[in-house]
Amino acid sequence: MNIVNSARQMSQIVRQAHGAGKSIGFVPTMGALHEGHLSLVRAAREQTDIVVCSIFVNPTQFGPTEDFSKYPRTFERDRDMLGTEKTDYIFFPSVEEMYPAGATTWVHVEGLSEKLDGKSRPGHFRGVTTVVSKLFHIVQPDKAFFGQKDAAQVAVIRKMVRDLNFDLEIVVCPIVREPDGLAMSSRNAYLDPTQRKQALVLSRSLTHVQELIDRGELMTDALITAGKQTIASEPGARLDYFEIVDPDTLNPVEDVAKGALVAVAAYVGATRLIDNVLISSR
Ligand code: PAJ
Repeated sequence: MNIVNSARQMSQIVRQAHGAGKSIGFVPTMGALHEGHLSLVRAAREQTDIVVCSIFVNPTQFGPTEDFSKYPRTFERDRDMLGTEKTDYIFFPSVEEMYPAGATTWVHVEGLSEKLDGKSRPGHFRGVTTVVSKLFHIVQPDKAFFGQKDAAQVAVIRKMVRDLNFDLEIVVCPIVREPDGLAMSSRNAYLDPTQRKQALVLSRSLTHVQELIDRGELMTDALITAGKQTIASEPGARLDYFEIVDPDTLNPVEDVAKGALVAVAAYVGATRLIDNVLISSR
């Protein structure tokens, strides 16, 4: 496994690999890796010849009051985990390497970027789409792997790939959870033991809504009310949003008969957590 810090060097490596007829699988991350990230690396390992994983805590996707400076940085541990998964290259650039002084160009997917997490975190998706397009240009992947955990991010990136003619396939992998249901997240490290228990209310609210749907309740008004009530039942949690939307447009839907994305975001203490479930058509 090789660690590459330079964008130019990374591009040269993938150009040579393409020249030798190899396919490139790419897993972009911000590090502090867990089984959710590793599931993407394993999918890339199965589906492509050369696996590149990037580790870059991207400053432009954090708001001014968000956790950029305290975001967990665990490079040595991440490197060992990626070694075990037979990752070929870790692209680990500095902020200066990714954003040379004077860079003023942004990639912004209008509309979608202002929905769900984009509504609560203004500018967040502009930072995500800008860095992901830069990474796509540098790594030139045939397939890029993303987690369903960040459902709005998936919608925004799919749209960006279509709108800007990126010649690659987006592969979306299922949410990996802790045994008790909590969706794995690098931000779970912020939770103290009490908050860790309180955080279960997110997955509980989704399970409850899924049960109501399975029992025949298809109207989203009733389902959203039930989901919000579950979140409200946990005093340690503060709701950001509970929405039921079309997974591609992120627009609200009236009923879930044709399938839908049920997405929740809530604060537990100062930590903002997200989770979701995809409802298949009935
Ligand atoms: P990060 O939060 O590190 O996540 C990297 C990838 O891992 C994303 O595609 C995310 O959806 C996926 N992931 C995280 N937790 C997961 C889980 N429990 N199950 C399955 N997949 C999971 O998302 C980002 O970084 C950044 O926005 C990035 C795309 C790297 C751009 O900076």
